[in-house]
Amino acid sequence: MTRILWVTSLLDPDEVPCKEQVDALSRELRDRATVPNYVFKAIDALSITAHPMTEFVTSVMALQVQSEFQKEYEKGIHKSKYWEPMYEDSLSLIACVPIVASYFYRRTYKDGKVIPVNNSLDYGGNFSHMMGFDSPQMQELMRLYVTIHRYIFCLMDREGGNVSAHTGHLVASALSDPHLSFAAALNGLAGPLHGLPNQEVLLWIKTVVEECGENITTEQLKDYVWKTLNSGKPVPGFGHGVLRKTDPRYTCQREFALKHLPDDPLFQLVFKLYEVVPPILTELGKVKNPWPAVDAHSGVFLNYYGLTEARYYTVLFGVSRSIGICSQLTWDRTLGLPLERPKSVTMGWLENHCKKAASS
Ligand SMILES: CC(C)(COP(=O)(O)OP(=O)(O)OC[C@H]1O[C@@H](n2cnc3c(N)ncnc32)[C@H](O)[C@@H]1OP(=O)(O)O)[C@@H](O)C(=O)NCCC(=O)NCCS
Repeated sequence: MTRILWVTSLLDPDEVPCKEQVDALSRELRDRATVPNYVFKAIDALSITAHPMTEFVTSVMALQVQSEFQKEYEKGIHKSKYWEPMYEDSLSLIACVPIVASYFYRRTYKDGKVIPVNNSLDYGGNFSHMMGFDSPQMQELMRLYVTIHRYIFCLMDREGGNVSAHTGHLVASALSDPHLSFAAALNGLAGPLHGLPNQEVLLWIKTVVEECGENITTEQLKDYVWKTLNSGKPVPGFGHGVLRKTDPRYTCQREFALKHLPDDPLFQLVFKLYEVVPPILTELGKVKNPWPAVDAHSGVFLNYYGLTEARYYTVLFGVSRSIGICSQLTWDRTLGLPLERPKSVTMGWLENHCKKAASS
């Protein structure tokens, strides 16, 4: 029962655990945070030029060798008990993910020296520490980051409403263990329309500054946004498949920025974009949500605190999402959700559809 309560509190934003529960869960995660050496060897086998999301997926697949679910399934576990090894795998995976992510961060961008876990820190603080960032503000940012990136998606996970969450569900519905399912979800998070935009936003903002300077006027910014659109590219960080207003995660990052970095020129630019972009996207006449999403803001903080390697940003998103997705997968097996099958259409249906579209 305790185990299911923990999973629920990782998943449900309305369930705020008490301090004892948080401490117990933190201890549990620390106890599970052991990564076998062959996982690091698998990462090291990749080219140093590999995208960090490729390194991430490789790490999760190497961790899969430890899957309790797979072992229990091979022994013939009764289906009413599936959730138990799913739970074990999920918590172990959540615990190990910051270790591998910080390992390949340091391998790719720093001196390759591994920074060990600091048992006095919590999950977000430790992740920041292992990457090499020890300022209290960066650790606080990482806590915020980990919380908001798993948070709203947990709500949406119940609908399977985005690419990565849905992919995790889909793959797990075939009784794939959490490692296989989460690795699939990460692949879904590595595309330019979902997940990767936090990288794209910072690169795009830096290009704006390079071409127009930090003191860009509103008129120049409008021209730049139109130039981006006219070159057939989306304005990164704006729009959403489900939300129809400013992403609340954008708003809470703005509050953090107003408190800690109000004068940062890139933050000022992000705010200017909030004024400039929505009217332009509305003018296009087809964009359902012209407002900024979480990604419109997040890179600016990381850059401010010295984590400047934009290609790595989606990994931070993925670390956070391990919490939402793995909790959800445990619930899927607890509820005994069935195998998912997509709807399919026949060739005849397709021909009819094209004929109708051509005549309308
Ligand atoms: C998030 C996103 C993929 C949602 O796509 P969607 O559900 O198809 O959104 P819409 O229904 O509003 O899209 C309708 C049209 O507006 C376009 N559009 C939506 N957001 C846009 C943006 N930020 N810039 C330019 N065009 C955009 C779409 O490409 C689509 O054009 P099309 O009909 O010519 O293909 C889309 O808003 C987007 O590409 N945003 C930029 C990338 C991004 O930041 N993604 C992360 C958000 S969390």
